[in-house]
Amino acid sequence: TWTMVNIVDDAVETVRAQVGDKQVICALSGGVDSSVAAALVQRAIGDRLTCVFVDHGLLRAGEAEQVERDFVAATGVDLHVVHAEDRFLNALKGVDDPEEKRKIIGREFIRVFEDAAREIVAKAGAEGGEVEFLVQGTLYPDVVESGGGEGAANIKSHHNVGGLPDDLQFTLVEPLRWLFKDEVRAVGEQLGIPADIVWRHPFPGPGLAIRIIGSVDHERLEILRKADAIARAEVTDAGLDRDVWQFPVVLLADVRSVGVQGDGRTYGHPIVLRPVSSEDAMTADWSRLPYELLERISTRITNEVPEVNRVTLDITSKPPGTIEWE
Ligand code: XMP
Repeated sequence: TWTMVNIVDDAVETVRAQVGDKQVICALSGGVDSSVAAALVQRAIGDRLTCVFVDHGLLRAGEAEQVERDFVAATGVDLHVVHAEDRFLNALKGVDDPEEKRKIIGREFIRVFEDAAREIVAKAGAEGGEVEFLVQGTLYPDVVESGGGEGAANIKSHHNVGGLPDDLQFTLVEPLRWLFKDEVRAVGEQLGIPADIVWRHPFPGPGLAIRIIGSVDHERLEILRKADAIARAEVTDAGLDRDVWQFPVVLLADVRSVGVQGDGRTYGHPIVLRPVSSEDAMTADWSRLPYELLERISTRITNEVPEVNRVTLDITSKPPGTIEWE
């Protein structure tokens, strides 16, 4: 629409004016905000933007490919991918405490990002350039919530990028600072970002690690990824993606129950379906999904994921339950 074109043009001009002839780096998470912010900055300054995508191995099925292949194809962004699954899984080995998981993932993320940023800064330097800016997908509600402070490194810990060391201090570029979520999505569509990314449900930075109740390993992640992919595909097929705020699928990895599958008794793991409706994630209600849809999800998961023999539905609102289980 006319206004969307204007918003994009304005944001592009503002980024150009701020950045001048300097270079910019960006941490891509695969989420809506960082993707749209990166695409806008790319539109403004082209290859003077380098994006870093840390694949921590805790994403859902197909999500890393969506960033590495589809997002790059749609935007032409210069992408630096770090495959770090082994590093994250080693650091998480045997850890089942939720906050400990978050701490470890946050710490490893910063270290991996720092290494990548140092490489990019050094490469730019060798070519006579200078990296002076870091893109941040801050939205207007975040600005209001944090009192509108301008601080250069004032990154909320909730956004999973804590303080960077002194030699990696950048000035923030925040092209979404004046926008609400629905406007960010409209800008994303205007920029040609794939619908799967533009309409993605919120997804926590620590990823599937906080949807495995118990310690995290590759095998457990694969079980959860299969179940999660089935639930997502069925909700999409039912045309209900935009009626659900978020749909965590949780693996109770330390719990087992008896079942009967095929011609034998099994002793497998339960999966919890946690579809919620919400306006802002502060409060939420459990989604009244159609029984037929829930039945298809349950049947497919128990048929297609041999380690799972029981599917349960979480019918707790927030409060008292949080959206995530950890
Ligand atoms: P809860 O579980 O507290 O979640 O009701 C509220 C919203 O925040 C997301 N969430 C996180 N996002 N890092 C994130 O980036 C985290 O550690 C984290 N924990 C929860 C959750 O998915 C929901 O949208």
